Amino acid sequence: MSAPMSFDPRVWTAHAHAKVNLHLGVAEPREDGFHELATVFQSLSIHDVVTLEEVGGPTGASSSASRVLSLEVDGPYALGVPADSSNLAWRAVDLVASRLREKFGPRDLPQVALYLTKGIPAAGGMAGGSADCAAALRLADRCFSQYYTMDTLGEDELMGLAAQLGSDVPFTLMGGTALGTGRGEQLTPMISRGSYAWAFISSHEGLSTPAVFAKLDELRAAGRGVGPSMDTTAVGQALMSGKAQRLAGALANDLQAAAVSLRPDLRKTLKAGKAAGALCGIVSGSGPTCAFLCEDEGIAADVVSQVTVEIPKTRGFVATGPAAGAVLV
Ligand code: C5P
Repeated sequence: MSAPMSFDPRVWTAHAHAKVNLHLGVAEPREDGFHELATVFQSLSIHDVVTLEEVGGPTGASSSASRVLSLEVDGPYALGVPADSSNLAWRAVDLVASRLREKFGPRDLPQVALYLTKGIPAAGGMAGGSADCAAALRLADRCFSQYYTMDTLGEDELMGLAAQLGSDVPFTLMGGTALGTGRGEQLTPMISRGSYAWAFISSHEGLSTPAVFAKLDELRAAGRGVGPSMDTTAVGQALMSGKAQRLAGALANDLQAAAVSLRPDLRKTLKAGKAAGALCGIVSGSGPTCAFLCEDEGIAADVVSQVTVEIPKTRGFVATGPAAGAVLV
């Protein structure tokens, strides 16, 4: 009788960092429906924790069945996050498996369980779903590469897969500070001096990104839209100076009017943050999370406590930027 195949289950963990758009210029929609962007991304200390665990021995070399057996979501911002194959992190694992097989040949690969601990608001304009997806790309590449005698896809190829999965995924993979053009997936690293302190105020209900872009098109068609603000020089210079005051004067978001039009309550939140001592407040990405740049982390903590008391159904946290992208820990 032959001994059963033994396997040694292994677990890897990554931090998936959120982003804020310091400048978000949105041009007219393109033929593919996406809008051409000129954006400056900066990653933030706030992050989700993504864990990938092997849950079975390697199988299925010639099968296209999903390598993901289960996905569990917990943490302070778990509500509303899909725990099935519609989650971008799930899709990232399968994309890595199929690309490895395409590149290095079919192999038996283990099935895996994914665990997401959400510290980033869901559907909040901070790229939480994209960040989890970026972390899952790195984790799957690390796990499955063992079955290819450590051949990994490498950074360039992971960036290509990231762009297939979503416009914000390449930046959340890379982290730091970068200019994003195209639909946001073409990245050029930028210099950023010092560290910036932010207060973020999240909302009880998320906003749909496509709905916010569509609202901007509608406002513009009615002659009420802003921008397009495609010149990122001011924010670039402010980042070189390292001065929060200067960066506060350069923050811009073409999607803000659309987000506020869909969620008029955000006006109050923006006002309350500034009254509480922030240098400047903007909607983060497509919203509804509001981002308040502050002189230091102490003031940011005051802004969080004052605004969350004043505006019902809000929560908040302090974060600093720049930070890393998706990193194995
Ligand atoms: O790329 P991603 O799947 O994250 O984009 C979600 C949606 O946001 C798109 O389907 C599109 O409606 C909108 N979008 C856009 N222009 C961009 C990025 C996103 O219109 N540059």
